[in-house]
Amino acid sequence: MSSISSEEIISILRNEIENFEMISEEKEVGSVVWVGDGIATIYGIGHAMYGEIVIFENGVRGMVQDIKREQIGCVILGKEDEICEGTKVTRTGKRAGIPVGDAYLGRVVNALGEAVDGKGAIEAAEYRAIEQEAPGIADRQSVHEPLETGILAIDAMFPIGRGQRELIIGDRQTGKTSIALDAILNQRGKDVVCIYVAIGQKSSTIARLVHTLTKYDAMDYSVVFAATASDSASLQYIVPYAATALAEYFMYQGRDVLIVYDDLSKHAVAYRALSLLLERSPGREAYPGDVFYLHSRLLERASRLSDALGGGSITALPIVETQAGDVAAYIPTNVISITDGQIYLESDLFFSGMRPAVNVGLSVSRVGGAAQTKAMKRASGTIRIDLAQYREMEVFAQFGSDLDETTREQLRHGRSLMELLKQPLCHPLTLAEQVILLAAADDRAFSDMSAERIGEAKEQFLEYFAAHHAALLDRINEKKTLDDGLWDEIMGAVKTWKDGYLHEKQMYEK
Ligand SMILES: Nc1ncnc2c1ncn2[C@@H]1O[C@H](COP(=O)(O)OP(=O)(O)OP(=O)(O)O)[C@@H](O)[C@H]1O
Ligand SMILES: [Mg+2]
Repeated sequence: MSSISSEEIISILRNEIENFEMISEEKEVGSVVWVGDGIATIYGIGHAMYGEIVIFENGVRGMVQDIKREQIGCVILGKEDEICEGTKVTRTGKRAGIPVGDAYLGRVVNALGEAVDGKGAIEAAEYRAIEQEAPGIADRQSVHEPLETGILAIDAMFPIGRGQRELIIGDRQTGKTSIALDAILNQRGKDVVCIYVAIGQKSSTIARLVHTLTKYDAMDYSVVFAATASDSASLQYIVPYAATALAEYFMYQGRDVLIVYDDLSKHAVAYRALSLLLERSPGREAYPGDVFYLHSRLLERASRLSDALGGGSITALPIVETQAGDVAAYIPTNVISITDGQIYLESDLFFSGMRPAVNVGLSVSRVGGAAQTKAMKRASGTIRIDLAQYREMEVFAQFGSDLDETTREQLRHGRSLMELLKQPLCHPLTLAEQVILLAAADDRAFSDMSAERIGEAKEQFLEYFAAHHAALLDRINEKKTLDDGLWDEIMGAVKTWKDGYLHEKQMYEK
């Protein structure tokens, strides 16, 4: 047995005392006093921050949403089955965040950024807080580049620019999701990252959407965030913020992002449920007082960054469902006032066969011409005014047939424009296709045909141009402007087609 001298012991002790560091970890632990409906009340945690993440004994996370003198209220981000009275809860000191990274492209994830498509875990590049402050004024630049949806009615009349927020609003089953989906499909090969956020929808609906995205090769540049109707209100509440955090990850790399929130009405309902459970006082339509801020702080994060910050952008297409066309209800008016315009879809139009059912009079894009290519600006010319006149005159025309020739001509033109704006699902049109269709309409090429015939003639027209004027189409798509020479060339081709088509039709009918 070796003996240690007293000096040695003293020197060891002295060394230890000298090197002693006060390391104390701040770890506050509380316990659950009440749990239910995705909410837990915790007693014993004194210094929690609003929005902080806490961890329950069984590993489930919660987010602090309510701070009172003696207790805090938090929403449970996971299963609440194993949480009971007395369950220990630990503070983390961190605010809620999700992992982000390029590996998310092509994946379907839940509100916490965890894969739900059965393709294994996703390797994250970094971690971002789900609540971020929106870029300030100096960090932004104005919207100047179009984000083409491939839908003629929108690109020609209500152009959407990169960095803009355009609301899609309408009753149930009026084609709201379809417009957003078509816009995503049209981004193939355009280097735009697309994020679709499903809030409170049926799993089967989301599965169908993912199937469509996969079928049209759109999944490799897209991410789907899903908080289904069966997920807790807290997950439905945080999912748009989480998805926006991923969008920001891409935007700060200088990339362009398109994000669709489908839909914010259900988001507001989830938030209302949470707020009522947290015993906040209800206001109009039983929504809590801060429901405006709920959506404004989300949509303000859409922006076009300045060149100094890389020039990336987030374009937001929020969707809101109205009841019986009531745009004056609480949530619709809020979101209308936050966004830079709205595409208003109408049930009557939808059922009369006008699809997409865009109401031209009530839709608007406040960014307007700045978000259109020069070619589109020239080609779309007076289409909005023509349609407005048509709708006005249509009402008068119902009363009598005694109309002068100019009026009748305007009616015919309006009717043909309405027919041209009809577009089947998943058939986005290129810039050049839209330009030549508008040019043909400007030349009244379709005016003399009956409404039923126009659809077929339009198909034939596009086929004819693809077959005989492919170079011309390429030139329009490339240059994106129309000088007089190019315009005349288009008009010449339109005229040749018209003569040939009508001649052929007459032969056929004889
Ligand atoms: N342009 C179109 N042409 C033909 N059919 C369409 C068009 N747009 C939408 N539809 C059809 O209309 C139906 C409703 O469309 P969609 O799901 O996009 O509407 P929604 O407003 O999102 O509905 P919900 O209120 O249920 O979310 C779908 O069956 C879709 O296929
Ligand atoms: Mg929908």
